[in-house]
Amino acid sequence: MTGPTGAPSLHPVATGVLIRGGRVVDATGQRVADVLVEGGRIAAVGGDLAAGMPSGVTVLDASGCVVAPGLVDLHTHLREPGDEEAETIHSGARAAARGGYTAVVAMPNTDPPLDDAAVVAAVLARGADAACEVVAGGCITRGREGRELAPLGELHDLGVRIFTDDGACLSDAGVMRRAMEYARSLPGAVIAQHAEDPALCGHGSMHEGEWSARLGVPGRPAEAESVVVDRDLRLAALTGTPLHVLHVSTAQAVESIREAKAAGLAVTAEATPHHFTLTDAACAGFDPVFKVHPPLRTAADRDAVRAGLADGTLDAIATDHAPHRTEEKERPFEEAPPGMLGLETALALTLTELVEPGLLTLEQALGALSWRPAAIAGLSDRHGGPVAPGGVANLCVFDPAATWEVDPTKLASRARNTPFAGRKLTGRVRHTVLAGRPTVVDGRCADGG
Ligand code: DOR
Repeated sequence: MTGPTGAPSLHPVATGVLIRGGRVVDATGQRVADVLVEGGRIAAVGGDLAAGMPSGVTVLDASGCVVAPGLVDLHTHLREPGDEEAETIHSGARAAARGGYTAVVAMPNTDPPLDDAAVVAAVLARGADAACEVVAGGCITRGREGRELAPLGELHDLGVRIFTDDGACLSDAGVMRRAMEYARSLPGAVIAQHAEDPALCGHGSMHEGEWSARLGVPGRPAEAESVVVDRDLRLAALTGTPLHVLHVSTAQAVESIREAKAAGLAVTAEATPHHFTLTDAACAGFDPVFKVHPPLRTAADRDAVRAGLADGTLDAIATDHAPHRTEEKERPFEEAPPGMLGLETALALTLTELVEPGLLTLEQALGALSWRPAAIAGLSDRHGGPVAPGGVANLCVFDPAATWEVDPTKLASRARNTPFAGRKLTGRVRHTVLAGRPTVVDGRCADGG
């Protein structure tokens, strides 16, 4: 879609979009209704809005589908700047749109990293015409080196709300305390930690346990995560700054966060589809596609993550979409970079692994994928809100009963490193609408991909 100058435009054209015959599900409940979108906003929600519709309106068939607020990913690696062969802002945003997302938080471990206002501004400018809204996460420390604070205030002025050195753990407690004290003065700012103590992880490439011992691969113990989470919870209590725990993978950390929430602490946390689906047994064949930080854990940890999502201890499902070039990811297990694709499979894995077996209701699942992450990222004014007149039309339409098989060659992402290749999943995105503009129609990107 192009604007008046022929350049790609985020802004909707004047003609409307009618999403017809679906079941609307949002934080307020469920109802069968058509949704009319005009001027980028929801104009009407109700029964049979097709009658008397002017001819210019684009009709999107939603029969058999759920119509929900667009999904919001708190944790996406877009690789631009620095590794555009693996992913770009535009290819990652297309993958996001195909997965039902209308907004992603771009992680700052790029090259150069997002520790500088000029780099953040450049990423935001590149993302302005992407297939989903791209907001920037900012580094906590310069170069993600864990020593000197990044200019958090300047980054905040550009709209950054989530600060993290993700990919690296901020392990110096004094620096963490100073970051939290600084962030306290920045409205809506959240300090987000990749909780893996580097000294305990050493050169470990997978979870430390029975499987790592059997395979002879150095491990990363569960305690590497939980000691950092426990420490950061205490620092959050000391400073009063909201803490967000990234990709929680252990039963120990789930329990600590549960207790902290019960005590009234301002802590939020996310879990990834790979951690609630896979276990360290997947590493048995030494296939690096299963290598990720934090690593795949035991079945007991996976079940604790599921339980954490079910009781709300874990607020959000975040992808940690981490594209890697094929030649990199095909190196021997211990040398290959950690990370897995996630944007195009997250919704279906949530439906297949959590909703279908009855662990989460559909509303809970969509809360974890849409409105709760939107609130954490400070995006609730335009993402995750109720599907009601006046709201910005960021929407996701998916068929909860459609089955499909994950084929890495058919992904919109530039990379191919999905650990779910060949897996049969239930639930598929049919359409995605970004600020009133369809970005995905009938499962295909509106630009044809
Ligand atoms: O496995 C991971 N890969 N974990 C991270 O935290 C970083 C990510 C990456 O950037 O590849």
